[in-house]
Amino acid sequence: MTAKHHDLIVFGATSFVGRILARYLVERVGGELDWAIAARSAAKLASLKDSLGPRAVQLPTMIADSADDASLRGLCSQTRVVISTVGPYALYGEPLVRACVETGTDYCDLAGEVQWIRRMIERYEGRARESGARIVHCCGFDSIPSDLGVYFLQQEAMRRFGHPCPRVKTRVRAMRGGFSGGTVASLLNVIKEAAADPALRRLLANPYSLCPPTRSPAVRQPGVLFAEFDADFGRWAAPFVMSAINTRIVHRSNALLEHAYGADFTYDEAILTGRGFAGRLAAIGLAAGLAGFAAAGVIGPARWALQRFVLPAPGEGPSPAEQEKGFFDMRFRGTTADGRALDVKVTGDRDPGYGSTGRMLGQAGTCLALDIGKPAKPGGFWTPATIFGERLIDRLQVHAGLSFEVIEH
Ligand SMILES: NC(=O)c1ccc[n+]([C@@H]2O[C@H](COP(=O)([O-])OP(=O)(O)OC[C@H]3O[C@@H](n4cnc5c(N)ncnc54)[C@H](OP(=O)(O)O)[C@@H]3O)[C@@H](O)[C@H]2O)c1
Repeated sequence: MTAKHHDLIVFGATSFVGRILARYLVERVGGELDWAIAARSAAKLASLKDSLGPRAVQLPTMIADSADDASLRGLCSQTRVVISTVGPYALYGEPLVRACVETGTDYCDLAGEVQWIRRMIERYEGRARESGARIVHCCGFDSIPSDLGVYFLQQEAMRRFGHPCPRVKTRVRAMRGGFSGGTVASLLNVIKEAAADPALRRLLANPYSLCPPTRSPAVRQPGVLFAEFDADFGRWAAPFVMSAINTRIVHRSNALLEHAYGADFTYDEAILTGRGFAGRLAAIGLAAGLAGFAAAGVIGPARWALQRFVLPAPGEGPSPAEQEKGFFDMRFRGTTADGRALDVKVTGDRDPGYGSTGRMLGQAGTCLALDIGKPAKPGGFWTPATIFGERLIDRLQVHAGLSFEVIEH
């Protein structure tokens, strides 16, 4: 194998979120790293490089295709870390995970597809342990704020109470942002696969679906399934679409941390819609809209019409102005067995799915390349909280516009 020239390669640099990430790395991180961009199309890659301006003139480019294993192994031979934004991951992601695991190359991505992540763990965890490859899925809005927010809260609970909070709930207090075609394609692909497969529906309904089988507690988990009033926050709440992946990652973190949050830890996520009648109406509308989207995604012609006429196409997403105006504000309430409460707030100053996600992913990849040594964190399938912990929280606060704070009452 040739020497690894680069700290990091961004694969899928020409995707909607890959372009945001590449710009962020050029403008904010570049000097810290020896990095390169890769994609399947030479013409698109050249045009991306041109658009990144004079600071990107020396940026190396590489061609690789998910359908060409040799090109992926070539990519891995050049770098210590690969970031991938080539999705839907369930359709295009496995060959790169396999190449990384076989070559001992570290990897992080934006996958939010539970069934695919589970498949990757089952197929490749043993080999990753042998080769030393650290694989970290979910390094974007799903699931970094949730996973690191709970981790941050539990660290504070240990300091204040001497033990973790057995009950934590996350509520999205406010957010502004849109969806890209790639995210929509990934969501619709999960719905389509689940509609055809009862075993997959059972897997998706299992809150411990990403936990190692020997560390899956039998504790029943709460969840906001329709509109309900949340007395802890004094507001109406509705189901939060990303909770389907975030809760699974938080439970995996707890399992990998030998149940540091407690063996009977319970966790759920929802979105707050406001107070009074207007809040109630908004919660009902949101819950019904989500159910309608899922129902339309199951029916072939309705799914086609949604993708063709309503939703963004692959490569499209929120404009730079919309990303700038976007933000998110998430609240975490931890409760102890004797009723004491701890409140934490996690915010981001760009739209969650793209402006902030590009930065989170860039910092996760940088953290993996520069901060996290192999003896301490060996090969295997990690979560953001278990491999990065405080190191990434610090980076996100200094370089990515996120804040993590305890709310004092
Ligand atoms: N976790 C989060 O918070 C979060 C946020 C945003 C996005 N995402 C996920 O990130 C992924 C990317 O989203 P997006 O909106 O940026 O998607 P997108 O614009 O549709 O981009 C998909 C990319 O995959 C590339 N691609 C497809 N087939 C390939 C192949 N065989 N070999 C190499 N590259 C191939 C495409 O290449 P071309 O450019 O040549 O077409 C394109 O660049 C999606 O899975 C989405 O769900 C997650």
